[in-house]
Amino acid sequence: MEGIRILKGEKPLQGEIKISGSKNAALPIMAATVLHPGEFILHDIPVLKDIAVMREVLISLGGRVEQRGNSIFIDTRQIDSIEIPDQLMRKMRASILFMGPLLGRFGKVRISQPGGCSIGPRPIDWHIKGFKQMDAVFQESHGFIAGKSSQLQGKEIHLDFPSVGTTENIMLGAARAQGVTVIRNAAREPEIVDLQNFLNSMGADIFGAGTDMIKISGQKTLKACEHTVIPDRIEAGTFLLAGAITRGEVKLHNVIPEHLEATLAKIDEAGFKVRVEGETLTLLPTDEKINPLEIKTQPYPGFPTDMQPQFMALMALAEGTSLISENIFENRMKHAEELKRMGARIRVEGRTAIVQGVDRLFGAFVESPPALRAGAALVLAGLAAEGETVITDIEHIQRGYEDLVGKMKALGAEIELISVNGEEKND
Ligand code: EPZ
Repeated sequence: MEGIRILKGEKPLQGEIKISGSKNAALPIMAATVLHPGEFILHDIPVLKDIAVMREVLISLGGRVEQRGNSIFIDTRQIDSIEIPDQLMRKMRASILFMGPLLGRFGKVRISQPGGCSIGPRPIDWHIKGFKQMDAVFQESHGFIAGKSSQLQGKEIHLDFPSVGTTENIMLGAARAQGVTVIRNAAREPEIVDLQNFLNSMGADIFGAGTDMIKISGQKTLKACEHTVIPDRIEAGTFLLAGAITRGEVKLHNVIPEHLEATLAKIDEAGFKVRVEGETLTLLPTDEKINPLEIKTQPYPGFPTDMQPQFMALMALAEGTSLISENIFENRMKHAEELKRMGARIRVEGRTAIVQGVDRLFGAFVESPPALRAGAALVLAGLAAEGETVITDIEHIQRGYEDLVGKMKALGAEIELISVNGEEKND
């Protein structure tokens, strides 16, 4: 198993890197290619484990997939299976996003209850409820769910909660449904806008993504296309905090600032300045104290849950007490225990963490919880801590961050990949 060793913390990061394409835009777009038998080319696709799982699923369905650097070539002409293998569903929850495309193209799907991060039950009841409203029928037995529909019917669907995955899945199925589907109380994330743009490049007829109402007019036929995914706003936020927590100066290229407004507002409130020049953001150094914050995670454009663990690491060093409420996932506070091993003073009560700032953190041997943003939070804490930090179980981090260690090294961090018995791993 691989680990990360930060040889020496308390070193201000300096330098510039390019932010990768968005994992959470790429995953639904890769699933969308199943809607049409053709040859697709996607660019700015990050090289990371979740993308590799998506590739395995497409191949298991009969597709051909090749990733060359950050471009991926997908041929869906030979896809003839409607079943997602159990072991792949367990690897990554986003595999549920194949439900819409498979129902849309073949009228059938067979999946097992999904796996993925352990940040809460993360059921799929809203996905199933949406497709039932579109006249699909489902049977559950022995942990498998089989869905079928002679033809998905366009309907008005009101989501109980602006769920990102549910919004995306219904868009995917509706693209080939009969008639018009309107999704109300839709999620408004930028990745959903990117999915709409991709689907419309395929000949779909969708508008409203980015608002809470999305209208999809089903099409009988679609076509293949080429697309470049948007930059990863969560990776960008994570690196801005890496600069902040180490009191450094970090310049990020390939960022869409509008996608980070809530994150930038909290970075400013914490006492840091970010210079915005087009698609380049620079976190500027400061010796000012870190202000404590009150953070409540919300659906976009509110404060993103995917930045909550990283901010908890920063707040561990604030001058005062911060309050962090996790309102999206039921169990996304596991990083608190590991941060406490590094000297942080955090009390978790249900979905709320009370973080009492301390003067410094201390390097330690910590284990990344099975959630990729939690692992990133431990890297940030290690970069700011006195002494050496070793983080194990980093496969979760590698699911969501392309070459995190390489990018941190480019910013001057004394960080390396190690194999679990502690030798440096030459990657
Ligand atoms: C997407 O997850 C992202 N993943 C998550 O990013 C992100 O944290 C989340 O949206 C919220 O922004 C991808 O895009 C691949 P939800 P998703 O459906 O679609 C509950 C990362 O770090 N729910 O908006 O799973 C669910 O349990 C990942 O990159 C149901 O109850 O999020 C959760 O509590 C982590 N029933 C809440 O809704 C359902 O049928 C929000 O889930 C579906 C969801």
